[in-house]
Amino acid sequence: MKELRRIVICCVIFTKLHECQGANLSFPENFIIGAATASYQIEGAWNVSDKGENVWDWFTHNKPENIADGSTGDVACDSYHKYEEDVQWVKNLGLDFYRFSVSWSRVLPNGFANEVSEDGIQYYKNLTTLLVANGIEPIVTIYHWDHPQILEDLGGWTNELMVEWYTDYARILFEELGPMVKTFITINEPKVYCEQGYNSTTKKAPGKILENMGHYLCVHNTLKAHATAYHLYDDEFRAIQEGQIGIVTPCAGWVPGDNVTEESIERHFQFDCGWIMHPIYVGDYPEIVKTRVAYVSALENYPFSRLPEFSQDWIEYINGTADFFGLNHYTSSMPIFDTAEELGIYTRDSGIIKNTNSSWSAGSSSWLYVLPEGFGNVLRMIRDQYNNPPLYVFENGYSDTGELEDYRRINYYYEYVSEMLTAINDDGCNVVAYTIWSLLDNFEWNAGYTELFGIISVDFNSSNRTRSAKLSTSWWQEVISTRTLQDVPSNGTRR
Ligand SMILES: *[C@@H]1O[C@H](CO)[C@@H](O)[C@H](O)[C@H]1NC(C)=O
Ligand SMILES: *[C@@H]1O[C@H](CO)[C@@H](O)[C@H](O)[C@H]1NC(C)=O
Ligand SMILES: *[C@@H]1O[C@H](CO)[C@@H](O)[C@H](O)[C@H]1NC(C)=O
Ligand SMILES: *[C@@H]1O[C@H](CO)[C@@H](O)[C@H](O)[C@H]1NC(C)=O
Ligand SMILES: *[C@@H]1O[C@H](CO)[C@@H](O)[C@H](O)[C@H]1NC(C)=O
Ligand SMILES: *[C@@H]1O[C@H](CO)[C@@H](O)[C@H](O)[C@H]1NC(C)=O
Ligand SMILES: *[C@@H]1O[C@H](CO)[C@@H](O)[C@H](O)[C@H]1NC(C)=O
Ligand SMILES: *[C@@H]1O[C@H](CO)[C@@H](O)[C@H](O)[C@H]1NC(C)=O
Ligand SMILES: *[C@@H]1O[C@H](CO)[C@@H](O)[C@H](O)[C@H]1NC(C)=O
Repeated sequence: MKELRRIVICCVIFTKLHECQGANLSFPENFIIGAATASYQIEGAWNVSDKGENVWDWFTHNKPENIADGSTGDVACDSYHKYEEDVQWVKNLGLDFYRFSVSWSRVLPNGFANEVSEDGIQYYKNLTTLLVANGIEPIVTIYHWDHPQILEDLGGWTNELMVEWYTDYARILFEELGPMVKTFITINEPKVYCEQGYNSTTKKAPGKILENMGHYLCVHNTLKAHATAYHLYDDEFRAIQEGQIGIVTPCAGWVPGDNVTEESIERHFQFDCGWIMHPIYVGDYPEIVKTRVAYVSALENYPFSRLPEFSQDWIEYINGTADFFGLNHYTSSMPIFDTAEELGIYTRDSGIIKNTNSSWSAGSSSWLYVLPEGFGNVLRMIRDQYNNPPLYVFENGYSDTGELEDYRRINYYYEYVSEMLTAINDDGCNVVAYTIWSLLDNFEWNAGYTELFGIISVDFNSSNRTRSAKLSTSWWQEVISTRTLQDVPSNGTRR
């Protein structure tokens, strides 16, 4: 009541919404701001030098019907050839860091560590050196979905040997780039490439359906690979390189609605965020995930749970393998329990349906509803579930169709970052970094070039892949230089 009165009085005095809400729109001291990209989405140069074929080369070349516009990342933003210009954009924006990923098959053309491509590793050394020379911190994602096709032919993430192959690859990056890199991300979004790549033929490479359990095996081996690389870094590199290492997971948010309860929110969180982060922050998969998948598997007459079990050794080995909580966040839903289960019909291991409301505003990605309050909910839940770990927001952003006057993108950033700053300044969430997804318009996986997330435009029709500023480029420049959120430009319409 008191709060409401304050807001009402405040709104009479001030015309700006954020002042009404009394939000503190300043970034904390030492907070860092960066932008992110991923190798397959921007580099192009898919067949230069001795680079090997990766799963995305294979998927786009062999299954073009799965890509919305039939396009590929063969050229993409051509950042392999234009990285110097890209670094200049990062510098002009005033960003503290640049998060990029390394293409495994560019560095190890045949997938294994017996042969390192000189050109491949040199490209990343060039990029890293140039960033450091310009005062920009390089943050390196070791794996962002594009593993060598030969490894996929051998079973990919469903083969436990992937743990070894991945760790051999990670070692090379620690050795070659580690002297210049203080933050490594082992793996980006296991949940996404596992569910959409190993439990769907159409969405993401490699495009396999494996008995409604490929995704569980994939996450299982991914967590082992992550932990093994973490321990390798910890044992052999950390003391000399003095860096940090962790994993990045997407945690979707939630907003109130019909039948959304504390219990449905908790279950939704555990099947989404907890599936990946519980083993790393608490130990083993969340109890509810183990119980539910075992229960549904039994109903389906399997003599085992489709969710594999970790041995006690693996539980302990994986537990604690993160120096920071890497979070990607874009959107939210209204998670509710599936009422069909009351009739004995079980169609989802989670038993959760993610309701949406057609009145919600969305980006050009149909799934990307603009619901900033869900972001704050996720940040507070992570604070509470995992003992408020240092948290890097490693991706957040909005898709449109590439317009230069991208008011809706600026509005999204305003509302989401404002929500994050409230979580930090008022709720004590330990968020230490924020990352714009993405630096450039780029190849958006199965959406091709139909959903563009960049704060810098790329002309995909010009052989030159000419970059140009959007309105959000200068808006971010201002935010970064003042370390304070700026109003949405005047003819921008609020949501
Ligand atoms: C706003 O937040 C910043 C960063 O956390 C802090 O330094 C400042 O004291 C806050 N201002 C107010 C008025 O609370
Ligand atoms: C690389 O691929 C392009 C098509 O994207 C093709 O035109 C070119 O000939 C290939 N280069 C080599 C060396 O195979
Ligand atoms: C790395 O930089 C050197 C010196 O500028 C340049 O000659 C070389 O082509 C670059 N290599 C790659 C793979 O970008
Ligand atoms: C996996 O695919 C099956 C159908 O093949 C589907 O019933 C199930 O919901 C999917 N699971 C996830 C987590 O996407
Ligand atoms: C909420 O639950 C009630 C009772 O099961 C059901 O009638 C109603 O349709 C549900 N609402 C939504 C939005 O699912
Ligand atoms: C995981 O590590 C934490 C912190 O060291 C510890 O409290 C917890 O008991 C461990 N969990 C398991 C299952 O061993
Ligand atoms: C959808 O949103 C509208 C407008 O806010 C609201 O009136 C309606 O009740 C919502 N529907 C559901 C199912 O939440
Ligand atoms: C690129 O070319 C296609 C087909 O030639 C055209 O439809 C599209 O509008 C062009 N895009 C831009 C940004 O010029
Ligand atoms: C090519 O790109 C550069 C740098 O972005 C730009 O200055 C130049 O005008 C472009 N040339 C053409 C033909 O588009």
